[in-house]
Amino acid sequence: MTQSAEIRVSTTPQELFAAAAEEIVHLTNQAVSTSGRFTIALSGGSTPKSLFNLLATNARTILPWDKMFFFWGDERHVAPTDPDSNYRMATEAMLSKVPVPPANIFRFAAENPDATAVADAYEKTLRKFFQLGPEAFPHFDLILLGLGPDGHTASLFPGSAALQEKKCLVVANWVEKMQTHRLTLTLPVLNAAYCVAFLVSGTDKATVLRSVLEENVSGEQYPAKLVQPKDGKLIWFLDRAAASALSTKP
Ligand code: 6PG
Repeated sequence: MTQSAEIRVSTTPQELFAAAAEEIVHLTNQAVSTSGRFTIALSGGSTPKSLFNLLATNARTILPWDKMFFFWGDERHVAPTDPDSNYRMATEAMLSKVPVPPANIFRFAAENPDATAVADAYEKTLRKFFQLGPEAFPHFDLILLGLGPDGHTASLFPGSAALQEKKCLVVANWVEKMQTHRLTLTLPVLNAAYCVAFLVSGTDKATVLRSVLEENVSGEQYPAKLVQPKDGKLIWFLDRAAASALSTKP
């Protein structure tokens, strides 16, 4: 039974990131007290960088970094040193500045030119870490997601093959308009999370956000609409600019 989404609108981007950071501290403490660990899949792109900076500064001394395990929801098919790498962005903004053990960080080996092999290796990593049986899906404590202007999230792009994936945890998704593969968790994994949090900031996302949240559009064209955690929480962290086209002012 999917729960309805929770929409939290902050006045400014800074307040958005502060609200998201506060939720991450709350979810981390909750998970660690329940299961002794916190598992998170980070989003990429530019939006989360400020959140990562905030966690590395304001939350540096209050988070149990040694009990936190970091994964990625998606990755570009580039080396970890590439300026486009989501791993590089998160490492520079946060992971290199906090006392998280390197063994707690699981990046895509996206330097491998064989994208399918990268996806297969990451799938094996997830199955081993979460001790999954052949048909099971991992339950991340939190998956962070962004929203692209075309309605994509993670690397689930409109009309791409990955949208149909029902069994694999991770795929190499060919993105025609970019003429490249992107590595991504699949929808069954996103929808198995205990909590999914979208971070959406800026007026350039206002129209697509209205389509996803308020219009009867297809998930094939707006993949973010397909993120409906089965038993988990779905939270949209927005700033006023991103929420400016919504008819219902939450
Ligand atoms: C990526 C992301 C992608 C991103 C959106 C929004 O690898 O780029 O995972 O899904 O979240 O494209 O990107 P911005 O935050 O840069 O707008």
